[in-house]
Amino acid sequence: MKEWTGFTEISKAKGVWLTDSDGNKMIDAVASMWCNVWGHSDPRLVKTIANQSKKLQHSSMFNLTNEPAEKLAKSLVKMSPGMHRVFYSDNGSSAMEISLKLALQYWKNIGNKKKTKIATIKNGYHGDTFGAMSVGYVPEFFGKFKQQLFSTIQFTVPNKYRIPKKYTLSDYEEYCLDSIENRFKKTDDIAAFVMESGAQVAGGVIIYPEGFQKKISQLCKKYNILLVLDEIATGFGRLGSMLQYEEQNSKPDIVAFGKMLTGGYLTMAATLASKKIYDSFLGEFNEWKHLFHGHTYTGNPLAAAISYENLKMYKKNNLIKKIQKTSKVFENFYDEISEIDIVGDIRHKGMLMGIELVKDKSKKRPISPKKSINKIFFEEGKKNGIYLRTLGNIVMLVPPLAISESELELLLKRTISTIKSAKSKVV
Ligand SMILES: Cc1ncc(COP(=O)(O)O)c(C=O)c1O
Repeated sequence: MKEWTGFTEISKAKGVWLTDSDGNKMIDAVASMWCNVWGHSDPRLVKTIANQSKKLQHSSMFNLTNEPAEKLAKSLVKMSPGMHRVFYSDNGSSAMEISLKLALQYWKNIGNKKKTKIATIKNGYHGDTFGAMSVGYVPEFFGKFKQQLFSTIQFTVPNKYRIPKKYTLSDYEEYCLDSIENRFKKTDDIAAFVMESGAQVAGGVIIYPEGFQKKISQLCKKYNILLVLDEIATGFGRLGSMLQYEEQNSKPDIVAFGKMLTGGYLTMAATLASKKIYDSFLGEFNEWKHLFHGHTYTGNPLAAAISYENLKMYKKNNLIKKIQKTSKVFENFYDEISEIDIVGDIRHKGMLMGIELVKDKSKKRPISPKKSINKIFFEEGKKNGIYLRTLGNIVMLVPPLAISESELELLLKRTISTIKSAKSKVV
């Protein structure tokens, strides 16, 4: 914190461009923390907020409901195969807390006292609250709280770039899946398997090998373990499809959405559950089967109205098709980026690219975490007219989903210049 003095203050934004209070313009390569869909100040979304705010800005969902929240829930259920009901919250971490509580309480509700453990994938990230930190344990972020976190059973996902020497990718994938199955076989105490859907994003853009998530889903069914999928960063088009769980042929019992749900304008997240989960919470009052969870802003009408409009715009503008086309622009730059001597690996899917920086290409040695890579890249990026945020030694490109091809080309050219100019400062 001591290093970050004199913050850049953003005073306005339009489309993919952020403007600071000194008038400097930057392309938002972070989509304002991975959530912006249509660019900033989109008149359709701005109008939706204005119109809804004239009718109802907020009303509790404790004992009550409201029209935008109802309409949105119906749309979410309709678009999400296998899902039956929606539980609203106001950020992704809370949506994951709710997912965990639903999964753990489900077994209690149906009278199973044994299933109390959570299985996860190492290096996953699910948010910054205590439950989310427990299931998405990133040692560098959360080491200080380790003693307070609950323990989980952790498995490994194959990272194509860092496969142990004696394996091929497919052998290693098989080894990872075998170790999951062997553990599942051993005891009958795992309540749920929690994982990001399609890829680990904060963990360094680790895109799962084809079929990996499907096989986990099948193992969960075989061993009677709930599958909880976190689509907060990867769903809604980020990886090039509306629902990653559909693309991955996996069948979750519970799924969490956030970030892009509101188009990136207001704060809302949603946890969806299958009928089996929902029904287990129905009972007589004195059976205490209901879920004790609720936030002040649960189902906020402004956020719900904008999310509903956002979903309509996805359809009307055929956004997923557009993303699939625009995403090809990334591929045109693979060679040029790979040629930079500190670039070890490029991982890309849909509107997400991770560029892994290394000190030594042949040995794949990462750049020392002692260097403040994020700050160096932020400053160099700003000089090159882009807002960049790295995660450890990974340069993340996560632009607004509706970015145009020419804007994306400009972003990639500027990213290349930024890596080249930051190089001498990070190695
Ligand atoms: C996969 C995933 N899950 C959950 C979260 C937490 O969301 P929020 O920051 O809205 O709490 C994030 C945030 O980056 C995420 O990437």
